[in-house]
Amino acid sequence: MIKIAPSILSADFGRLAAEVGEAKAAGADYIHVDVMDGLFVPNISIGIPVVKSLRGETDMFLDVHLMIDRPHRYVGAFCDAGADLVCFHAEADEPQDILAAIDEIKGRGKKCALAIKPKTPATVLLPYIAQLDMALVMTVEPGFGGQSFMAGQLPKIRGLRALVEQMNPACEIEVDGGIDPSMAPLVVDAGANVLVAGSAVFGKADRAAAVEALRMAAAVKPDF
Ligand code: DX5
Ligand code: ZN
Repeated sequence: MIKIAPSILSADFGRLAAEVGEAKAAGADYIHVDVMDGLFVPNISIGIPVVKSLRGETDMFLDVHLMIDRPHRYVGAFCDAGADLVCFHAEADEPQDILAAIDEIKGRGKKCALAIKPKTPATVLLPYIAQLDMALVMTVEPGFGGQSFMAGQLPKIRGLRALVEQMNPACEIEVDGGIDPSMAPLVVDAGANVLVAGSAVFGKADRAAAVEALRMAAAVKPDF
């Protein structure tokens, strides 16, 4: 099943609870929460207190994407704040700290994902894949919403799908960056099953129509 995960990075933070309520009413599957520290990426967004406040306002599945340096220091705090899934970048920590962070997230009963930037090969995920609930392929350089989808990432998604099928078929594959109804058929055909969409949902006045447009597009076979 294809899941749609609107990213609140494109929402109005002044009325965040209402925005998330609209995404829920629109039939979204996950709420994607982008956390940026100004070090791992050249932008700063939100952090632990906002996740905690959101948790008090919604029962939606909170898919928290950490774009922060040495994430093992904070994954526990994001779990405790109410994340349902904590995703962090394979480029942002040492292998032993990645393993420790995965254990910490799982130990707190939460789902765990690893993300990779566009220049990082999918094979970097190999040592961890068996333990992951999800793998995230960035289809833009992380840091900002509203960028153009990088079509060069499609073969990587396809390769990752093959790896996942062999090693951990339950692992979801999420794509993040520049996803709109024109790109949705391509990423789904390549093997993604969770589509993050910031501008394509919160950038539109009618959120229900926006989620529906993505869902319809995801069901279409691409015409190469
Ligand atoms: C970018 C973030 C994305 C971003 C996607 O670094 O990880 O989640 O919000 O926004 P769009 O869909 O507008 O590219
Ligand atoms: Zn994201």
